[in-house]
Amino acid sequence: MIRNMTPEDYDEVYALWRSCPEMELNNLDDSRQGVLRFLARNPETVFVAEEEGRVAGVLLAGSDGRRGYIYHAGVRPEFRGRGIGTALVEAALEKLRALGITKVGLLVFRNNDAGSRFWEARGFAAREDLAYRSCVLREMTRIQF
Ligand SMILES: CC(C)(COP(=O)(O)OP(=O)(O)OC[C@H]1O[C@@H](n2cnc3c(N)ncnc32)[C@H](O)[C@@H]1OP(=O)(O)O)[C@@H](O)C(=O)NCCC(=O)NCCS
Repeated sequence: MIRNMTPEDYDEVYALWRSCPEMELNNLDDSRQGVLRFLARNPETVFVAEEEGRVAGVLLAGSDGRRGYIYHAGVRPEFRGRGIGTALVEAALEKLRALGITKVGLLVFRNNDAGSRFWEARGFAAREDLAYRSCVLREMTRIQF
């Protein structure tokens, strides 16, 4: 079952992320406060997949009125390959489209080949003409596992 994430899901969602070495977590954005802040701003576009009463997958999607962005899509290893990731992406894209968003972006580490294949097959083309740049406004600590 795909449904919107609620604050009560945070612990299970965080445990799921921790089990995904492909993902980079940090002490601010991925803290309970950081994730609940994102959820409060994007309550309709953050989804979890629930299996047997537990969180089996999660995808954070949000928008700023212009672009949609997807972060931290993950499915528990034992539930992968069953279409849960695809269902989460479809739920997010459908809602973002309904909100009037015209384009959705995301970042994948260059060494995450499986992740890149997953996104490519779902219509997320790589932009070879662009380079990602960012400016840190508040120092954060990368969480290593
Ligand atoms: C990427 C990810 C979210 C996909 O979730 P999923 O529920 O396995 O996705 P789906 O079942 O909808 O599709 C997975 C694809 O891999 C294939 N696959 C088959 N068995 C698989 C398995 N055991 N594990 C993963 N993928 C498998 C599926 O057939 C499908 O192929 P397709 O693209 O040709 O349709 C999941 O693998 C994951 O959590 N990866 C680690 C975190 C990550 O890399 N996130 C994305 C980068 S931000």
